[in-house]
Amino acid sequence: MKKIGIIGAGHVGLVTGACFAKLGNKVICADNDERKIKNLKNFIMPFYEPGLEKIVKEEVQNKNLFFTTSLKEVVEKAEIIFIAVGTPSTPDGRADLSYVEQVTIEIAKSISAIKTKIKKQKSKIYRLIVEKSTVPVLTGEWVRKTLELLTPTGVEFDIAANPEFLREGTAVNDFLKPDRIIVGIENKRAEKFFREIYSPIKAPIIFTDIRSAELIKHASNSFLALKISYINAISQICEKIGGNITKIAEGMGYDKRIGREFLNAGIGYGGSCFPKDVSAFIHLAEEIGISFNLLKEVQKINNQQRLLVIKKARELLWNLKNKEIGILGLSFKPETDDIRESPAIEIIKLLKEEGAIIKCYDPKAIQNTKKIFPDISYCENSYKVAENANLLVFLTEWKEFKTLNFRKIKYLMKTPYIIDGRNFLDYEKIQKIGFIYRGIGINPVREK
Ligand code: UDX
Repeated sequence: MKKIGIIGAGHVGLVTGACFAKLGNKVICADNDERKIKNLKNFIMPFYEPGLEKIVKEEVQNKNLFFTTSLKEVVEKAEIIFIAVGTPSTPDGRADLSYVEQVTIEIAKSISAIKTKIKKQKSKIYRLIVEKSTVPVLTGEWVRKTLELLTPTGVEFDIAANPEFLREGTAVNDFLKPDRIIVGIENKRAEKFFREIYSPIKAPIIFTDIRSAELIKHASNSFLALKISYINAISQICEKIGGNITKIAEGMGYDKRIGREFLNAGIGYGGSCFPKDVSAFIHLAEEIGISFNLLKEVQKINNQQRLLVIKKARELLWNLKNKEIGILGLSFKPETDDIRESPAIEIIKLLKEEGAIIKCYDPKAIQNTKKIFPDISYCENSYKVAENANLLVFLTEWKEFKTLNFRKIKYLMKTPYIIDGRNFLDYEKIQKIGFIYRGIGINPVREK
């Protein structure tokens, strides 16, 4: 059992802390958002993540998991401290590391304060400071420099990089059953700590240097984004020449070297990771004199995909002004309430600019969307969205949409037009009911 500190109770920090507690460690998790910490102490989660609330409740009740707003308390009580604060994009697309720096400075100050408090004791202070947030390569060196500058002699610390590969909607499972654990370290002392805290998890653990660990994260996410933009580029060819992108992905996916996952064409990737990480990697490359054109193309294709929805809406409705368009799905993917970089947000913005009248529904993301678009109508279910709609646009592949009563939907709509931004509906069934269906690179038999 180890005493683990987590700084930042966001999607990464909170899942990491709760799961480490579940694995038998004592975890203290800090965040500077007082309301968030107060809610967490009352088992109110800051975001929807399947299974997280149950683990938090259990581990708080088992006295394995604690919440605080004091970073100093974390540094005092924990030997291993995970930095899990946000690394958002700056306006020009670089990773904003100011929160990582701020937290590193506060860690150094807290260590100094502890040192002063126990200066009579001969015992050395040791802390293992871990980058959990996704950070560009060379960040580890900056963390070390900052700590060396601000901590007194007699304090020993190691730096490490332990990037996460959590997917929203399956984050708890991804933590407890990862494909692999990546750890960038500088010495055996740090390695020992990681072997212990990860010992309950049956997965390969790869120890490497810090720079390689930082690069593995950016390279992995950028590759996944590249794979999505690749299949989306093929979908653009299908839009022009026919062919069914879903069948193409299936045929490609049987090749073990390709794999079927992350070959789902549609309106493209969103979320708080891929867009930010691809952009940060491009900028990191530029800083060392390399133009990462491949990733620039990945971004370009991704941005084109969402415009296909507007093009298809015009093809079906002619002018969009004053047309009633129903949007089903707002989150960037199912099983989350997260709308960060969600394609749906940009598509709604473009439809609003054309003067369309928008009604929308999402199982979890309505509250978050209202903060961006307070002036569109939000319905309590999909059927209310379909009422009098000229067009229904599916933008997130929530399971509940697949089992809608499409006969009832058709009866409720003004004109039976459907755009499926995630190619997840059974278009043959839908067409039989009398809908005009448009997917992305699907090209169902065109009506005569
Ligand atoms: C991703 C990475 O998968 C994860 O390893 C990393 O730690 C964080 O970023 P996440 O962004 O939560 O996870 O979700 P993911 O399931 O990867 O989907 C990202 C986006 O890609 C979503 O908008 C999804 O709709 C889109 N996507 C995914 C596709 O468009 N096609 C696909 O085939 C798969």
